[in-house]
Amino acid sequence: RIVYVNGQYLPESEATISIFDRGFLMADGVYEVTSVLDGKLLDFAGHSVRLARSLKELDIATPCSDEELLAIHRELVTRNEVVDGMIYLQVTRGNPGDRDFAFPGADVKPTLVMFTQSKPGMADSPQAKTGIKVISIEDIRWGRRDIKTVQLLYPSMGKMMAKKAGADDAWMVEDGHVTEGTSNNAYIVKNGRIITRQLSHDILHGITRAAVLRFAAEAQMEVEERPFTIDEAKAADEAFFTSASAFVMPVVEIDEAAIGTGKPGPVATRLREIYLEESR
Ligand code: PDD
Repeated sequence: RIVYVNGQYLPESEATISIFDRGFLMADGVYEVTSVLDGKLLDFAGHSVRLARSLKELDIATPCSDEELLAIHRELVTRNEVVDGMIYLQVTRGNPGDRDFAFPGADVKPTLVMFTQSKPGMADSPQAKTGIKVISIEDIRWGRRDIKTVQLLYPSMGKMMAKKAGADDAWMVEDGHVTEGTSNNAYIVKNGRIITRQLSHDILHGITRAAVLRFAAEAQMEVEERPFTIDEAKAADEAFFTSASAFVMPVVEIDEAAIGTGKPGPVATRLREIYLEESR
C-alpha cells in the first residue's frame, strides 16, 4: 500500500510518526473514514465539513485546504487501485518533541496521515442479508462524543464484549436510553416510524445518518428524532444502524432477544437500497 504522511506518498513500510506525536501519547487527534464505491468517494463534502468542525472544537490547526484533502483522497484511491473500500484520515496536534499535557504553540504543525483499505464487494456484505446481533453495554465515554476523536479504547472494548457474548457489536446505553453503537448510529422502527436519537454532544453526528434521514424524508417515511430506551428497542418492529463503512445495517437481535421477526425488516432493507442507489 501507498500511504500519505505529512505531504509525502510512501510505501507503508517507510511511513513513520514520532513517538512524541500527541496522537500517540495523548489520543490528541481526530479522524474520518470515507467509503469508496466503484472508485468514487461517498459524501467527501460531508466528511470534510465534520473534520473541520472536530478540529475547531479541539483547537487543532487545519493541516490543508479541502481541495488538497480531496486531491490526496483521489491520489490514494488511484495509486492503490481501490475499487471498493475505505479511506482513513487522521489529524493529530502534532509532535512537540517531548511529553507535556499543555498544548504546544502554533510552531508545531498538525500531523496528517491517510491510508486506504480495500474491501472488494463491500456493498454486498452477507451480513446485510442476515442482519447482525448486538448486546447493550453502559456508555461510559466522555461527554463530547460529537467530536470524532481517536479515543477509541472503550468502543474497542465494547466490540470485544460483544464478540465474547457471541454477538457482532454493542449498543451503548446511558440512563436507560441508547446513545449509539460502538462505531455507528442506532435506529429502531415502530409502527412504520423511524426513531433515532437527536443530535447533541451525546453522539457522533453521522454523515450516513444525515444522508439516510434525508432519503427517508424524500420517501415520505416518518422520522422521529428522540432518545429511545433499550427496552423500547427490544420491543421494536425493526432495528438498524448506519455508518460510512456499513451503510445501513439491519440489527436482528439485542441482548439475545429477537427484534420483530428476527430477520432484516422492510424499512432497513429499503433504506439500504435507497442509500446505495443514491450515493453511488
Ligand atoms: N465510525 N457513531 C460513532 C461512535 C462512530 O464511530 C461512527 C463512525 C458513527 C457513524 O458516522 P458516519 O456515518 O459518519 O460514519 C456513529 C467509523 C465508520 C469508524 O470508526 O470506522
